Amino acid sequence: MNLFRTKTIEQSIADTEEGEHQLRKQLGALQLTVFGVGVVIGTGIFVLTGEAAGVKAGPAVALSFVFAGIACALAALCYAEFASTVPVAGSAYTFSYASLGELVAWVIGWDLILELALGASTVAVGWSTYFADVMKQAGIIIPGWAYGDGHNLVAAVVVLVLTAVICTGIKISAHVNFVMVVIKVSIVLLVIVAGAFFIDVANYTPFIPPAGSEAAAGAVPTPSLLQDLGLAPGAFGISGIFTGAALVFFAYIGFDIVATAAEETKNPQRDMPIGILSSLAICTVLYVAVSLVVTGMVKYTDIKVEAPLAEAFRSVGHPGFATVISIGALVGLTTVMMILMMGQSRVFFAMSRDRLLPPVFAKVSPRFGTPVRTTVLTGVVVALLSTLVPLTELAELVNIGTLFAFVLVAVGVLVLRRTRPDLERAFRCPGVPFVPVLAILAAVYLMLNLPGATWVRFLVWMLVGFVVYFAYGARHSRLVTDPNYSREADAQAAGRRRADRP
Ligand code: ALA
Repeated sequence: MNLFRTKTIEQSIADTEEGEHQLRKQLGALQLTVFGVGVVIGTGIFVLTGEAAGVKAGPAVALSFVFAGIACALAALCYAEFASTVPVAGSAYTFSYASLGELVAWVIGWDLILELALGASTVAVGWSTYFADVMKQAGIIIPGWAYGDGHNLVAAVVVLVLTAVICTGIKISAHVNFVMVVIKVSIVLLVIVAGAFFIDVANYTPFIPPAGSEAAAGAVPTPSLLQDLGLAPGAFGISGIFTGAALVFFAYIGFDIVATAAEETKNPQRDMPIGILSSLAICTVLYVAVSLVVTGMVKYTDIKVEAPLAEAFRSVGHPGFATVISIGALVGLTTVMMILMMGQSRVFFAMSRDRLLPPVFAKVSPRFGTPVRTTVLTGVVVALLSTLVPLTELAELVNIGTLFAFVLVAVGVLVLRRTRPDLERAFRCPGVPFVPVLAILAAVYLMLNLPGATWVRFLVWMLVGFVVYFAYGARHSRLVTDPNYSREADAQAAGRRRADRP
């Protein structure tokens, strides 16, 4: 069994042209950027900023956002090169199939479930909390049987409604998304502009609270793996900036998902890099500004970890703003969930098309032009997870999974430059090999700043993935079971070798 068999890039692109597997190409650079912003701004900035400032970094959480943003920018350059070279659904999964071989591709595809499906479930649980809160302010109390840990029907309902929207077609989803993104960005700008008037500069001292300082109430600081190993002191101090960064990294997750829509993009070579890099730049500026405003309005020790932005306005006597912000958060989280689920359905789709998962899922609906089967499967799994499991504390598991995918993508860029220097790359990552190597180092460093328990869960999940691969995917892979398919691949490779000869 050849575990490092690769699927050629030409073959990946040819697959997208097979009739029954064809997705509609209708997205442009602006829609991709809106997509990116739509999935990026969410729980991270609206919720996790509180915990990161209150128990990990203090006002220096702004620096945590800067560091996490730099790590993402480095990875984004690698994603942009990959997405513009291999414009095929499935993101990191497809890229690695074409460069690092089937086993690594499987590892990434399995790992992306942590980012996408688990991420969507985490956000759905957060959404239900905001929903209950906004309803309460409107005088409506949601009955206990419909909402709570372990029986969160509110989360399930919102997930299933969004699943239906995604099934009806990517164009409609993009329109719904556009309106929601405008509302969300306006709310974030409102926090920055209105909040700036309430900044008390005394709250910025100390800007980097010394290690072991008093923490805000409401969250228990979990030690990072580096702390467990005795390689970093407790929270706060310089090392607190990095544990904070490992947590708020969640706020940036999503720009890479833009890459999963490559196959549905009209001109991926030009639009993909623009979409990925501009959504990331917009979000970084907004995050740094929001975190400076919030830690300026409230002393970090008084910050409320559940709803830091809204509470900051309550604490300065403006509950009206707080309500508007809560509604904005609700809208914001909706788009995040929708796009995470869309990304997951496309990765499942690509994996079933390659028969690493059962091929019955790789059908595109003739009516809507979307992969309805994988979308429904994703929706049901996410709905179940968010109903049954209180996942808020699992943001860190989502982070480690995503950071690991970043590492593999950066490695993939390096490998592909060596093995396929001939490929046309509409966007070339600058500074190779330094940028991909720095991307790898930054991602690994953030991973080490996550809790030891997160590492254990991550390793267990990956182990289960290996079992599934050897029990199913390795035997059913299209590269093994479809002789014509592998002959085509060989012929293409031979043709290429002939063409390469001087
Ligand atoms: N970046 C997304 C969020 O903050 C996942 O919710």
